[in-house]
Parts: sequence; structure tokens; C-alpha cells
Amino acid sequence: MLQDKRIVVGICGGIAAYKSADLVSRLRKKGAQVRVIMTANAQEFITPLTLRSISGYKVATDMFSCPQEWEIQHISLAQWAEYMVIAPATANFIGKVASGIADDLLTTTVMATKSTVVIVPAMNTNMYNNPIVQRNIQSLARDGYLFFGPASGSLACGDEGAGRMEEPSAIVEYMESLAAGKKDFENRTVLVTAGPTREALDPVRFLTNASSGKMGYSIAGAAAKRGARVILVSGPTNIEPPPSVELVPVVTAREMYEKVMHYFPNCDVVIKTAAVSDYRPAVYSGEKIKKTEGRFTIEMVRNPDILAELGGKKKGQVLVGFAAESTNVIDYARDKLRKKNLDLIVANDITREGAGFAGDTNQGYLLDAKGGIQQLPAMTKARMADIILDRVALLLGKDS
Ligand SMILES: Cc1cc2nc3c(=O)[nH]c(=O)nc-3n(C[C@H](O)[C@H](O)[C@H](O)COP(=O)(O)O)c2cc1C
Repeated sequence: MLQDKRIVVGICGGIAAYKSADLVSRLRKKGAQVRVIMTANAQEFITPLTLRSISGYKVATDMFSCPQEWEIQHISLAQWAEYMVIAPATANFIGKVASGIADDLLTTTVMATKSTVVIVPAMNTNMYNNPIVQRNIQSLARDGYLFFGPASGSLACGDEGAGRMEEPSAIVEYMESLAAGKKDFENRTVLVTAGPTREALDPVRFLTNASSGKMGYSIAGAAAKRGARVILVSGPTNIEPPPSVELVPVVTAREMYEKVMHYFPNCDVVIKTAAVSDYRPAVYSGEKIKKTEGRFTIEMVRNPDILAELGGKKKGQVLVGFAAESTNVIDYARDKLRKKNLDLIVANDITREGAGFAGDTNQGYLLDAKGGIQQLPAMTKARMADIILDRVALLLGKDS
């Protein structure tokens, strides 16, 4: 998939810079044409000579010394690139690009390119979790920059946690999947639920929630792109359904229940992002309820628990739930995963900036039935959709 692809690898000044030599070597072995840009600080960690030997080309390091073959390096490399991959990307680099600073060859080229830019962060856990860094990542993700990693584990500084650069082999796989436009859901039927439900009190009033439907629509769109037949059972939203999905509009939780149960037996995967009302008013008034003096009490009754019922009924389907919580996020999600017999659950802390309902980004954790947990740093909902589908594809692969 990477044969003849034109890839600029940007290297920043972090401990993981030594891994970039392996990355460049692997990309070349896949047939890619690779050019390397190093920051001044990257050269403290690994020499341009090493990267020149491995890439087969002079390494670009300085904006003001133009080798003959590139008249204005940042423009020509920016135009030449089909992909840029920045690995390792330092907190400094991420901060500069997020702020529109272009004060060296790498940041200037990133700013000038129209190519797909993949940022592979690597840094100490405390740096990575620093709210400023998280804000910068979120803002870049919103602008369409792709983030790959970081992984969790023991770091060079001795700390444990998120911040390790993803391994070069994984980066190459990711680049291949980007280049391929994966079709790993061909011949699969994926049912996605999305949006809120509405529970009417009378002809003009209803109870609902703040779900925008964006996460579910992103998953539906990504699954369709990857070759799936997609059935999108959606509550009322203000967004356009993605192309090539079968939209099944519903309003109430009971309608959603009926539609989901109807399609479920013929599905391979069910991903339930919808924020379904747990309760509905016990009585629906056919007439508009009139204002009276004093308090007004609404008696509520339980709606069916769609996810729990699917968990009880599933026969080989991969079942993915979402848990939007404001406290003990991971514990609640793990409990829901177990009680409802899910295969995967995405846990969002809705109190965190850039997570949850209305925005274009999300963050949280992906938990599996074996006790595994993967942190999902701030990223676009589209990117998160692909990460979730990657995990689902692995589970489907095991079953087939
Ligand atoms: C030994 C050492 C290791 C470092 N490792 C990292 C790292 O892994 N990630 C990071 O963001 N910064 C790291 N830094 C700090 C960066 O080198 C520093 O922020 C620098 O300004 C980055 O410059 P650049 O982004 O232009 O390459 C490290 C510094 C030193 C001295």
C-alpha cells in the first residue's frame, strides 16, 4: 500500500528519536519514498548522517540553507508530500503547531502542507497529561491532524503511563491502513444506534437529552467506508446521515427497541452509541397539559434496556456499548460491560473538556471483556470511530 507513496518523516527532539531510524527503514522497505526533516533538538539525539544513510537522501534541517534540489525547502517538501508523519512529536512541536508558530523547517513545512499529517506523540506521562498539551492535541485533532498513540507502558524516564511512542512497526501499519482505505468490513452488517430518544408528555412537550448523534454517525460513516452494510437506527438529530448507510429514524426508546430487535438477528456487529431514555412518562396526555397552581409531578416508568437484552440474546455478534459518566467512569463502565455481556465498552467522562455529547472530539477509555483497557486521548470522533472499528475487526477475525 505504501509503494511509491511520498512520505516526509519529521523528527523532534525526544528520547524516542532513535526509533525514527527504524521507522524510515521500514517505510522504505515497503516501497515508500521518504524524505526526513529534523529539528535542531532532534539532532542532539540522533545524527542527520544516520537518517541520510537510511533514507538515501540529504536530511533537511535548516530553513535557510537550500540544497540545489529544493529551491525553497519548506514549500517544495510541503508540496511533494502525500503524507507527513511526525515521530516522535514533542510537546513543544505540538504546542507550536497548535499555536500557529512556524519557526523552523519542520513546523513551517507542516503549516504549508496540504498532505495528511500524522502526529505520533512521545513524552513523559506528566507532560502528556498536562492540560495545556491535551488542549493543544484536541485543537489540532479538531483541525484534522491525525494522532497515532501514544502507547502506555514504562517510559525512558522511569515513569509508567501514557507517553511512549508507538512502535515503528505499528506506525507503518497505521500508514498502510490510511493509504489503503481499509475494506475490512466487507460482507459484514453493522447496526449502529445514535442520537437521543424523546419521550412525550403531551403533544408539544417531551423529555430528552443532549446527545448530538455525532459519535454514532461517525462510526456509521467509517464502517460504511470500510465496506460494511450499515443500518443506522437514529433518534432525532440535526446532522446529515453519512453516505451509503440505511437510516432508520426513530423517536422513542420503545421504537428504537423494536427496530434494533428487528435487525439484530442478521447483524455481525451492534454499536450502541444512542443515549436512550431510561424512563418515560407513565401517562401521555393527548391534550396539551394546562398550567395549574403549585407543583406538577410526572410519574415515570422504565423503558426497555436494549443493550442488556442484546447481551442476553447475542449469538456470535460483537456488541459494543458506550458509557457516558461523570464519576467513577472506569468502574461504572467495567460494571456495565460485565452486567450487559458486552464485548467492548467506550467510557467517556462527560465532565472533561473535549469529551462526550455535542463536540466534534471525544476522549475516554476502551475496555474489553478480558479486562484490557486502552486510553483514548482527545481526538476527532471520526478517528475514534476507526479505532473502535479496528478493535471490532480483531474480534470478528477471531470468530471467523
Ligand atoms: C534527554 C531529554 C529527553 C527529552 N525527551 C523528550 C520527549 O520524549 N518528549 C518531549 O516532548 N520532549 C522531550 N525533551 C524536551 C525537548 O527536547 C524540548 O522540549 C525541545 O525544545 C524540543 O524541541 P523540538 O520540538 O524543536 O524538537 C527531552 C529533553 C531532553 C534533554
